[in-house]
Amino acid sequence: MLNIQNNISLKPFNTFGINVNAKRFVAVKTISELQQLLVKYKETPLFLLGGGSNMLLTKDIEELVVHLDIKGKQVIDEDETHVWVKANAGENWHEFVLWCIAQDFGGLENMSLIPGNVGTAPIQNIGAYGKELKDNFVECEALKIDNGLTRIFNKEQCKFGYRNSIFKTTEKGNYIITSVTFKLTKHNHKISTSYGAIQEALTAMGCAENPSIKNVSDAVIKIRQTKLPDPKVLGNSGSFFKNPVISKTQFDTFSTHFPEAPNYKVSENEVKIPAGWLIEQAGFKGKRFGDAGIHDKQALVLVNHANATGKEIWDLALKIKATVFEQFGIHIDPEVNVY
Ligand code: EPU
Repeated sequence: MLNIQNNISLKPFNTFGINVNAKRFVAVKTISELQQLLVKYKETPLFLLGGGSNMLLTKDIEELVVHLDIKGKQVIDEDETHVWVKANAGENWHEFVLWCIAQDFGGLENMSLIPGNVGTAPIQNIGAYGKELKDNFVECEALKIDNGLTRIFNKEQCKFGYRNSIFKTTEKGNYIITSVTFKLTKHNHKISTSYGAIQEALTAMGCAENPSIKNVSDAVIKIRQTKLPDPKVLGNSGSFFKNPVISKTQFDTFSTHFPEAPNYKVSENEVKIPAGWLIEQAGFKGKRFGDAGIHDKQALVLVNHANATGKEIWDLALKIKATVFEQFGIHIDPEVNVY
């Protein structure tokens, strides 16, 4: 039964904790409910809401808000070395990662504590501490919004890139992801600790030699907790900006002025600069403008100290973007979706 509610505050449904209203709101618990909805509301513009962890809401939502709350996860296949696990879109990402670790299924541990739901994770190919969703992704199932039909997208078809996929480009707004299948290791886990901070955390925990996937997850949780604010305590959407990728030519000029800037080679012709460094150097780290602010431990994260409006956060983001461009000649763009 589809239960359409009127004038619902979306504050509990977005991790920034922005108080805007949905004119009409419906939570969908099963795929068949979602299909019914797509048929019944064929002509109605929809606004899809997963974990609400990667969005900034700047105004009331006029479209019908569809909260994807389809739960469930299961092993669908296995061989000697791997399992294939299918998780539905409404599963909380971190709880799913912890469940995998509890079964000793390896692969997702570096992505512990990332906010959001399983169904939205492929859209921006979530990633952290040396791993990205695409590394263990097999396929996802999606419903086409205009006809309710199911389609499977394999890894290649998803065209994953850094915080990017086909669901943000050519198929933007066309599909609703209903489940995701991952291929995970059963033993001989490929532990990935190349990221310096993980090594340090494991050493501090006394398990730098031969860490288990649980050890890696604990290390990542520890690092994230020291750098990134808990949305339940301080509203935020994780990294607000993407790390800019600039041409080698631009980088050569930039680095003569700022030789101390951290940088990562992306390809022969491209270099990535951490936006957090640029924002910190521009003097914004830890600053507060009313209730909108910049986190004091990671300048890439914008925070809502209590009652900031989405517009206040967005104005701050624009001010940061303009200042960074003025000082470094580098454009930084939002990683979050702004509405
Ligand atoms: N830095 C600063 N000041 C800051 C923040 C960072 O100088 O305030 C410097 C650090 O010293 C370091 C570099 O920037 O040299 C990179 O910092 P960090 O390792 O914290 O990673 P990041 O590039 O800022 C990215 C992801 C995070 C992810 C971490 C770890 C993006 C947009 N963000 O941040 O993802 O957790 O790497 O892998 O790629 C997210 O997407 O919401 C997110 C939190």
